[in-house]
Amino acid sequence: MITKATVDRIMEATDIVEVIGEFVQLKKRGANYVGLSPFANERTPSFTVSPAKGIFKDFSSGKGGSAVTFLMELEKFTYPEALKWLAKKYGIEVQETVEAPENKEEEYRRESLMIVSGYAAKFFHESLLNTDEGKAIGLSYFKERGFSNETIAKFELGYSPDQWEAFSATAIKEGYQEDFLVESGLSVKRDNGTLYDRYRGRVMFPIHSFTGRVIAFGGRTLKSDKNVPKYVNSPESEIYHKSNVLYGLYFAKKAIREEDNCYLVEGYADVLSVHQAGIENVVASSGTSLTVEQIRLISRFTKNITILYDGDAAGIKASLRGLDMILEEGLNVKVVLFPDGDDPDSYVRKVGTAAFKAHIDKNKKDFILYKTDILLKDAGNDPIKRSEVIREIVESIAKIPDSIKASVFIKECSHILQIDERSLLSELNKMRLAKAKKENQQQTTREPEIIEEPLFDEPQEKTHDSNSQEKEIVRLLLLYGNKMIDWDGIANTYIGPFMIAELSDVEFEHPASKAFLEIYSKEVENGVLPEEQHFIHHPDKNIVDLVVTLLATKYTLSENWYEMHKILVPDEQANMKATILGAIFHLKKQKVGKILENLRNELQKTDVEADQEILLSQYMHMKKVEKTISDYLGSVILK
Ligand code: CTP
Ligand code: MN
Repeated sequence: MITKATVDRIMEATDIVEVIGEFVQLKKRGANYVGLSPFANERTPSFTVSPAKGIFKDFSSGKGGSAVTFLMELEKFTYPEALKWLAKKYGIEVQETVEAPENKEEEYRRESLMIVSGYAAKFFHESLLNTDEGKAIGLSYFKERGFSNETIAKFELGYSPDQWEAFSATAIKEGYQEDFLVESGLSVKRDNGTLYDRYRGRVMFPIHSFTGRVIAFGGRTLKSDKNVPKYVNSPESEIYHKSNVLYGLYFAKKAIREEDNCYLVEGYADVLSVHQAGIENVVASSGTSLTVEQIRLISRFTKNITILYDGDAAGIKASLRGLDMILEEGLNVKVVLFPDGDDPDSYVRKVGTAAFKAHIDKNKKDFILYKTDILLKDAGNDPIKRSEVIREIVESIAKIPDSIKASVFIKECSHILQIDERSLLSELNKMRLAKAKKENQQQTTREPEIIEEPLFDEPQEKTHDSNSQEKEIVRLLLLYGNKMIDWDGIANTYIGPFMIAELSDVEFEHPASKAFLEIYSKEVENGVLPEEQHFIHHPDKNIVDLVVTLLATKYTLSENWYEMHKILVPDEQANMKATILGAIFHLKKQKVGKILENLRNELQKTDVEADQEILLSQYMHMKKVEKTISDYLGSVILK
């Protein structure tokens, strides 16, 4: 377990805007920051960060919490993983007690796989830089390709020795478990149970997760033998899902945000060369065709993708259809081609950064127009083929969610296709209608409401069930527990301990509120008045959720309570007293009401006279309690 002192130090150092800003483009609005939710696919920002409170709230998905919770939600980190990530970011040394981790099996496996992968990356990197074989074969190859020491270090490039067990044997000797070596694909198991290395004699490209941990590898052969696969990649595993990963994203995300554009290339080498040339907003889909998940990954940082293709016409045509999904996600796509035989890697090395950029600027073409060009060239003068092209183009345009943007494309395409704009438009509308119908039939989940100006305050349902009454108590403890209240000049007390004492005979029903109250009581017993931050950074996600929801939303129960009782409150203090006592006694009244109801039910069920008598006397007693509470409520109100 990570020690409390370390946790405190991490929390102190953490700037939530800075942390979340690594993943989400944030804009300042008033005291808060807003951005597009990374958890939901939204077009209007409803994701809010409050630096003052150190919390975020996402009104689209309902998620909320601290910087730690954010990392847990987004990266699927465990609590300790998230803490360690922050510790690394802020250069804090992590101290741990030696207790066995109580992590769930799965979390333990994920962490173990990442540790093994990290170890392997180091091993390959060391063997590239510090062994004779690595230097002679791997390093000289990278040098020949023009990669600088800096690039090699930054991307942790490596070399896997051309031996059967160089890595596996060392890893086993170092105490890494066979299981994880095999699951991560670094080692392969022989029939006789021993392990051998998967990537013998290959240069290694570690693949980093979104947050910079090594989760997989691509290994390139240095042989020109056609029978040897050029790249061997890690298999899918618990930590590596190919379709969710973009090579280079970890190193590119800052630049993507700053440039508000992402260059998409095909290979590892392209990423490295372009990045090295100072154009850092570049990622690769690494040989797989682009997936929706990858697009969404990019769209967290920018809505603009520029695809850099090498000039191979066949490949381009094949990928055209898949690219429609980028449009569907509402992104702007541009395409740039390179002269025949060149890919971004070779081209940038040939012409240099400035000319490379100039080439992009001069040749970038909007995806739709580009697609139209290519398909038209292909169709030639064949009228049937031409009409197919028209349909296909309009189909692409119909996928653009922004109708203004779509109509601009219609206009431009009507020129290129030499067809009346109106007929294109009517075709477009037909498709949109059909699409909407289909979606209506399929969709059970409601389209998220479009919120014009999302505010941090969200209207809260004004109910008076036990759940919201318990939450009201939690809210008051959170906001005012460490404040003093003056009871008409008689005594000053802290609100927190006062409320805890008053509630000692009440059992909470709802798990999160109950857990909150238990923690609060325990702290009070220890003589501590817990602050907001104590709960915001609690390991129990349910508590964080509850607390953040209460802090992030204007929870209007108490105001409503006054209204309901038609009370005019003269000043803040009186208001506070009435609010606190009101909350406590309304909850009590509700609990008593439940007890009374249970007693009534039991009375009806039993015929045994003795039982009836006992129940009846209990009932009368509770009735009295109820009346006392009501009277008390009345008197509080009238004061
Ligand atoms: N790829 C792969 N398996 C292969 C070939 C390619 O996984 N057998 C993936 C790799 O991610 C590679 C990308 O597809 O980076 C693009 O392929 P290619 O252009 O052949 O590789 P480059 O990275 O350009 O490598 P190089 O320049 O060294 O030939
Ligand atoms: Mn290449």
